Amino acid sequence: MKYELIATSAMGLEALVAKEVRELGYECEVENSRITFKGDELAIARSNMWLRTADRVKIKAGEFKAYTFDELFEKTKAIPWEHFLPENAEFPVSGKSQKSKLFSVSDCQAIVKKAIVERLRTHYKKTSWFEENGPLFKIEVALVKDVATLTIDTSGSGLHKRGYRVDQGEAPLKETLAAALVKLTNWTPDRPFSDPFCGSGTIAIEAALIGQNIAPGFNREFVSESWDWIPSAIWDQVRTEAEDLAKYDQPLDIVGSDIDHRMVKISEENAFEAGLGDLVTFKQMRVQDFNPKRDYGVIVSNPPYGERLGDKKAVEQMYKEMGKVLIPLDTWSVYILTSNEDFEKVYGKPATKKRKLFNGFIRTDYYQYWGKRPPRS
Ligand SMILES: C[S@@+](CC[C@H](N)C(=O)[O-])C[C@H]1O[C@@H](n2cnc3c(N)ncnc32)[C@H](O)[C@@H]1O
Repeated sequence: MKYELIATSAMGLEALVAKEVRELGYECEVENSRITFKGDELAIARSNMWLRTADRVKIKAGEFKAYTFDELFEKTKAIPWEHFLPENAEFPVSGKSQKSKLFSVSDCQAIVKKAIVERLRTHYKKTSWFEENGPLFKIEVALVKDVATLTIDTSGSGLHKRGYRVDQGEAPLKETLAAALVKLTNWTPDRPFSDPFCGSGTIAIEAALIGQNIAPGFNREFVSESWDWIPSAIWDQVRTEAEDLAKYDQPLDIVGSDIDHRMVKISEENAFEAGLGDLVTFKQMRVQDFNPKRDYGVIVSNPPYGERLGDKKAVEQMYKEMGKVLIPLDTWSVYILTSNEDFEKVYGKPATKKRKLFNGFIRTDYYQYWGKRPPRS
């Protein structure tokens, strides 16, 4: 059966998510924070397994205009929920509402729940309550400008939870954003890669996964694995496919470093958990001492932003020292994510390109300095 699927995306990453969906072979449409595509059970499993920059994959169960609670109830009840939900399904309903007549989210949730219960009662010929002790189907009713979209989450924990993070530092980057930062560069796995502010190692680990084409979901499970209408053979097929497509022989030169030796230890533990073992090197080092052995490398980094009162001056001094070390490395490309609006001035060079991105709720810019192109081999 074909479903309408939605890959949800952080603001600003829609084009990257859409590219990933197309690379999996599905035509898609892009809206704010949503990439919509059609696919079968295999598409649900494959998109969960492979999308590096999306937040979740959801099934769109229905979409309609709803100005009154009656309308919301009747149109929700008209959806064939029995196609998705077995008799023992656990189906909590969450909601949100923006610019809509139906603004009471708790009422909308209750009405959607009631409508689904009625629909399933008729279908399963049930007179008592549903026990809800079976597989989980998280339903969301999202109202935007009086249009209700009803979705079922297929991912479970968000796709940023790759399963490798055993520990973290103070301000870890979401894995999905880290993967996006790497994908926005000109890095190819034959070139050196470095993150000199590696914290818990997220960027370096995501680069290694990309470099060896290891599926981001390889180390985890998805809630839709417990649904009986997605045969386990599909999940086996997707895991075998991921195993076949991984390029474990691809040599990599990826280094993460941090001034704080505790971060180095955490990064090593996370990389080990990701199954990358010695593939990524971590070491204790100040960015001011960055001195690579090879040319034509790529730096992707998320330094401290200095947002806390009193930190700004020290951070800007550090940016200045960083510029002194990195600007002369003209074969290296440097990509820095920071919220500091004066970054280019302090660093000492205007960026080749800037891109607005959100790190959680913090508005940041991704400053991109393109180095000389490597000679053709
Ligand atoms: C925002 S965190 C990086 C978080 C990382 N992207 C992650 O996902 O965990 C910034 C890191 O820069 C490190 N740092 C601060 N000053 C530094 C310096 N001068 N040289 C190298 N690292 C530094 C801090 O110890 C901290 O771990």
